[in-house]
Amino acid sequence: MSSSKQASRRNLSVKGLQAVLADKLDLRLSGWEILGGVMVVRLDPGYSESEKNLIGETIVRLHPTAVTVVNRMSIDDELREPVTEVIAGSKTESIHLENGCKYKIDPTQVMFSFGNKEERKRMAKISSPEETVVDMFACVGQFTLPLAKHSRPEKVYAVEKNPVALRFLKENIAQNKLSNVEPLLGDCRDVCPTGVADRVLMGYLFDTHLFLPTAINALNEHGILHYHFNCTEEKLEGEIQRILNLALKHAASANVSKTVQIKSYAPKMYHWVLDIDIEK
Ligand SMILES: C[S@@+](CC[C@H](N)C(=O)[O-])C[C@H]1O[C@@H](n2cnc3c(N)ncnc32)[C@H](O)[C@@H]1O
Repeated sequence: MSSSKQASRRNLSVKGLQAVLADKLDLRLSGWEILGGVMVVRLDPGYSESEKNLIGETIVRLHPTAVTVVNRMSIDDELREPVTEVIAGSKTESIHLENGCKYKIDPTQVMFSFGNKEERKRMAKISSPEETVVDMFACVGQFTLPLAKHSRPEKVYAVEKNPVALRFLKENIAQNKLSNVEPLLGDCRDVCPTGVADRVLMGYLFDTHLFLPTAINALNEHGILHYHFNCTEEKLEGEIQRILNLALKHAASANVSKTVQIKSYAPKMYHWVLDIDIEK
């Protein structure tokens, strides 16, 4: 490969791709993210099959690491299963490296949010060797892996309801040589351990409040909840008060020690996480 070609591959941007394709089509996409060798794009609707294939094959030709391109149309239902189509290449499983962790993942089967990258980094340093942690919505180990690997807590119970995600989680625990993680299959409301945790991760954005009783039950006499939710900036104060009032139905005290805005979720809607100190 010539050095100018290598340079253009290294620097490939959405604008560059739009320019390359300009005489054939008008490229409109709402995002692209590389997961190991798989590029996940979100194309605007309306392209024909041959146009989608042209976009996919052009990305594979020009991107330094993409061997497969997946178009993600939506994410369905409570298990957050993606609805996708492969538009170039065929191998959809690959290894994504982040925070010193190896994530084996197939974006046609499970979701992995790039917008949560900073929170995954924060979770890597949040715990300590004397802690027990429960991750109620572990998926492939987005939070469990960096936390277990870098903070080295005594134990992480990683709960996941979707058997496909659990299979990846188990492989990732092995890939990262983690002996302090116990994966648990099932609805967290049924399988979460009780009275053991110093810290509970509630990384789920849909009716998170329904899981508060389980999360508080999982805690020791006191501990910390990492409570995720979606809300506008205008309604944030009221929503925090509502969450604390719900927590106080199951605990003697509940106080927010930190509020983090994680990402924009939709126009004016943001993904937040609260660190809540709980005394039972
Ligand atoms: C969107 S992923 C979030 C992964 C990770 N916590 C994060 O925030 O990046 C949510 C995961 O929770 C799982 N899930 C949904 N409801 C659940 C439940 N009641 N009990 C256990 N897992 C559940 C889904 O299958 C999915 O893998």
